[in-house]
Amino acid sequence: MTAAAQESTRRLRAGVIGLGWAGQQHVAAYAADPTVDLVAISAMEEHLLAEFGDRYQVEGRYPDWKQMLSEAEIDVVSIATPTFLHAPMAIAALEAGLHVITEKPMAENAEAAGRMVEAANTAGRVLDVSFNHRQRGDVRALKEVVDSGVLGKLYYAKTGWIRRQGIPGLGTWFTKSASAGGGAMMDIGIHMLDMALHLMDEPAVTAASASTHAEFGPLGRGGSGFGISAVEEGVPFEVEDLATAFLRLEGGGTLLLESSWAQWIAHDLCYVTLYGADGGATIEWGGPEEPRITVWTEVAGIPAELHPAAGEDGRHAAAVANFLQKVRSDDWAAHNGALALRRAEVIDACYASAKAGAEVTIGG
Ligand SMILES: NC(=O)c1ccc[n+]([C@@H]2O[C@H](COP(=O)([O-])OP(=O)(O)OC[C@H]3O[C@@H](n4cnc5c(N)ncnc54)[C@H](O)[C@@H]3O)[C@@H](O)[C@H]2O)c1
Repeated sequence: MTAAAQESTRRLRAGVIGLGWAGQQHVAAYAADPTVDLVAISAMEEHLLAEFGDRYQVEGRYPDWKQMLSEAEIDVVSIATPTFLHAPMAIAALEAGLHVITEKPMAENAEAAGRMVEAANTAGRVLDVSFNHRQRGDVRALKEVVDSGVLGKLYYAKTGWIRRQGIPGLGTWFTKSASAGGGAMMDIGIHMLDMALHLMDEPAVTAASASTHAEFGPLGRGGSGFGISAVEEGVPFEVEDLATAFLRLEGGGTLLLESSWAQWIAHDLCYVTLYGADGGATIEWGGPEEPRITVWTEVAGIPAELHPAAGEDGRHAAAVANFLQKVRSDDWAAHNGALALRRAEVIDACYASAKAGAEVTIGG
């Protein structure tokens, strides 16, 4: 029996590092899965170790994540810590023979993300990244519309996430470039980039032309209650609060991406709009209206507007279930984090373009 086949038949022992909002979603996902034993959690907050340890009856509670990796005898680990810690923690876990899922973004830059993929290849273990928003019910439904072929060839898309007032952890690791790697585009733009490329069937991004701005954060404006990490005295706002990008896709298509943590608008707005040769489609959420999917096409030569029903929202539980499915598959080598690395390369190229004030090519 292969190692993967053995994995498919036994219960898995899981651990989670980081107990902020993101880590709490992973803890809840494992705790609700009857095929998994959540046996270890790690965080710097003693009260959260106690609270979540008690709530989910987790015996292993570790202020020191390295101790957790060496003592807890786990098979899979979720890493939901500040972004600059994903690479060192994931590489150590992979080297210890664990399968790993990190929160998005994969790492603070593509160089660190590349080292993670190398470690997964060397260890022969699964490396996954939690892109939970592609597990939304409306995104899943729109993917089915695209896959049905009704939109024809997709050659243009627009996507964005613009918040009214939503800078996470203003003055914490979130707004330092070394620890976060970037601002709004790295944090929330990456969800929309992932979603749009996933819906478009993964065209390679060949070039990026981007600009970044910081008009809110440096003035202490636009902060939100997101993030539990402590605000550090005198931490400057070093990242962007708005980024725009024009991306060229293989085959000649293009994608527009806008990301903002704070903006003078009525309410938060998230959207993906797809333009195809035979039809168009959009999903939008964040405002007072219910999220809705709209498809424009022709039925028997008659212009038609359709509103497919959204499936169930999967979010983090589905992202974690997806990871566990990869762990239980026979093909660990195919799940080495390469797709998330490609997302990191696009984000890197956007920041390089914004710095240079010129288009930057990706992948040679
Ligand atoms: N997928 C999503 O929708 C989503 C949402 C929010 C955050 N995130 C991502 O999740 C990650 C964490 O974000 P957050 O908002 O939960 O952050 P946070 O600052 O609120 O929490 C960070 C957690 O990491 C722990 N931590 C830090 N250093 C540690 C160490 N050395 N050992 C053990 N634990 C340590 C902290 O104790 C804390 O529990 C980030 O990469 C962020 O981008 C994803």
